[in-house]
Amino acid sequence: MSELSVNHLLGIKYLNKEDIKLIFETADHFKEVINRPIKKVPSLRDITIANLFFENSTRTKLSFELAQKRLSADVINFSSAQSSVKKGETLIDTVNNILSMKVDMVVMRHPNPGAGVFLSKHVSASIVNAGDGAHEHPTQALLDSYSIREKLGNVKGKKVVIVGDILHSRVALSNIFALQLQGAEVMVCGPKTLIPKYIDKLGVKVETNLRKALNWCDVANMLRVQNERMDISYFPTTREYTQQFGVNKALLDSLDKEITIMHPGPINRGVEITSDVADSSQSIILDQVQNGVAVRMAVIYLLASKIKQ
Ligand code: CP
Repeated sequence: MSELSVNHLLGIKYLNKEDIKLIFETADHFKEVINRPIKKVPSLRDITIANLFFENSTRTKLSFELAQKRLSADVINFSSAQSSVKKGETLIDTVNNILSMKVDMVVMRHPNPGAGVFLSKHVSASIVNAGDGAHEHPTQALLDSYSIREKLGNVKGKKVVIVGDILHSRVALSNIFALQLQGAEVMVCGPKTLIPKYIDKLGVKVETNLRKALNWCDVANMLRVQNERMDISYFPTTREYTQQFGVNKALLDSLDKEITIMHPGPINRGVEITSDVADSSQSIILDQVQNGVAVRMAVIYLLASKIKQ
């Protein structure tokens, strides 16, 4: 297959296995490009991309911008905090005003689940979801799987546990879809209050004992507790959460095998993960960030190829 089955990247649930394979093969090429002395290719000189961030971001925002610049696209950046959204302008009006400046693609992070899908039905540009509320974060899941493939050779057959605040996590849902599409086994582990009631309907295992989960898995993807999405308490204290669901060096060393540790960031050091684990040789956290550029270059390049047709 030489093109994606979709015109937008709204979520992993809209992709198929071949789409992911194509994105990874294209990312392999771009990974080689960004390791050259001249890290730039002229592929998207005729494409203009708007990055619209209605929520905070460090990794995703910088990684998308760098990916676009490495592909020679023209880039404009919009952050809602400094915009006319503060004066009451709607999402559609905001985007249509930006599109009237001849923008071909929109990368958007938004607090509302489904914001990307909504936008794709109302505007002509190609839409990339950079995280929509607690729904999906497709490029994060793609770079996570790409990093597992790089570290362990293959995603198929691997056992991956996603640990922590599953309830409020867009990373968890996108990872579940992406890992299952590629033939991995997925488990979620956390306090019962932070695991959605019907998650087993997605075909994932559920475990509330972290040691058992770590003994089962090849890879542990540690998630942050998303306090900003909580209006009630889901566990008694942070200290208690850390005691039960935090990963530390002593716990890792007591397992009978060496597992790979991931984290999408931002990390709360000392809460879900200790520094000696985050910075250890078992951790591929910074590889994930580095791979994010190549994976996002691949996504943008493949979607732009469809615009040009
Ligand atoms: N992983 C992730 O989405 O990080 P940011 O919120 O910093 O973009």
